[in-house]
Amino acid sequence: MSEHFDVRGGARLVGEVDVVGAKNSVLKLMAAALLAEGTTTITNCPQILDVPLMGDVLRSVGCEVEIEGDTARITTPAELSHRADSAAMGKLRASVCVLGPLVGRLKQAVVALPGGDAIGQRPLDMHQNGLRKLGATSTIEHGCVVAKAETLVGTQIWLDFPSVGATENILMAAVLAEGTTVIDNAAREPEIADICTMLIEMGAKIEGAGTSTLTVHGVEQLHPTEHRVIGDRIVGATWAFAAAMTRGDLTVRGVNPHHLDLVLDKLRLAGAEVTTYDDKGFRIVQPERPIAVDWVTLPYPGFATDLQPFAVALSAVSEGTSMITENVYEARFRFIEEMIRLSGDARTDGHHAVVRGVEKLSSAPVWASDIRAGAGLVLAGLCADGVTEVWDVFHIDRGYPHFVENLNRLGARIDRVTGEPERA
Ligand code: UD1
Repeated sequence: MSEHFDVRGGARLVGEVDVVGAKNSVLKLMAAALLAEGTTTITNCPQILDVPLMGDVLRSVGCEVEIEGDTARITTPAELSHRADSAAMGKLRASVCVLGPLVGRLKQAVVALPGGDAIGQRPLDMHQNGLRKLGATSTIEHGCVVAKAETLVGTQIWLDFPSVGATENILMAAVLAEGTTVIDNAAREPEIADICTMLIEMGAKIEGAGTSTLTVHGVEQLHPTEHRVIGDRIVGATWAFAAAMTRGDLTVRGVNPHHLDLVLDKLRLAGAEVTTYDDKGFRIVQPERPIAVDWVTLPYPGFATDLQPFAVALSAVSEGTSMITENVYEARFRFIEEMIRLSGDARTDGHHAVVRGVEKLSSAPVWASDIRAGAGLVLAGLCADGVTEVWDVFHIDRGYPHFVENLNRLGARIDRVTGEPERA
């Protein structure tokens, strides 16, 4: 049975909200547990479906995985299977992050091509080229990445683009390689710095965490650790956009506001008043209708592509015209088709979109195409006349634990409804 949200428009969101651990960190930290024999404990895990799914991926190669509340305990045996090709692999993107640890530890891996959000082409060439430079062969065979090496030897690797996943896979293979690996043009996302922190706690030797040059001195083995996942900056930013769009007043806790420096600064330009609290959170108040600003997605510290739907949704209700440029995932503009159903005045040309703000959107049934697009539609529904039905909400559940409960506690009126859609 399908589920949808009935979102009543007109709410002003006010109150305090806690942000959970970062989805795009925890799944990779779970994969990193493969690098050390014994029990690794990860705390502040978000209670989202992808965490148990990643648990299934790790079980399929021989780990014992126990997930209780916000804690995941992963016991990695001395003998691991190099084949990660279970059905769970196809259900999330992060499953591909077992490739680096398996090659690092076993010098071979067969890893099913990952699933995840339909946001555009997601090739693995940079992951494979990095492993090849370390001395492995890598091919795609029958829906799997196959990699094999006699030994892994450290080297200099230049990435064509600061890919998050490629940086993570190469990093996690390099920590157990012989000698020194330098990854240049590495991704600088806070989630990568988080993985570096955990790997260092496990005994890895890494310099340059959080910068675009990672220097990794290979070690013979790593040991298990206990690590707390950083707060989810994408979820934190979602609440910031929610406040800006509903002319609300939200205090957001559990996320480092410095991971959102650019976003919060742009929201100030849109008229928000933002106060940050060290590395703990921020308060955002939007006294008037937002003013249109332009947004350009880029790798961190640029504006995250994951936040692009929120930039579109905010622009749709702002005063003036915004240009949004998507530089990372071309298919993310699919979201705009749904915004047009809500009477948004928007059109795209290549990787640019022009959005002319309207005073109020008009409710309609709309379909979520990925996690962030789904959350963006819910926020847009809060700014629409009438009741907006948001369908395919399973996407939203993958990234936002208790999203509806939190929104309702802050003043929204949203119901989760079970039943089939009457799609035109
Ligand atoms: C991660 C995030 C995703 C986010 C994205 C960019 C996870 C689970 N997902 O995805 O939410 O939107 O970072 O911030 O952490 N590319 C290649 N070849 C490769 C690898 C990537 O061409 O081998 C391209 C992609 O098509 C894309 C760009 O590089 O255009 C960025 O991709 P990447 O940073 O690798 O994203 P993911 O790690 O898949």
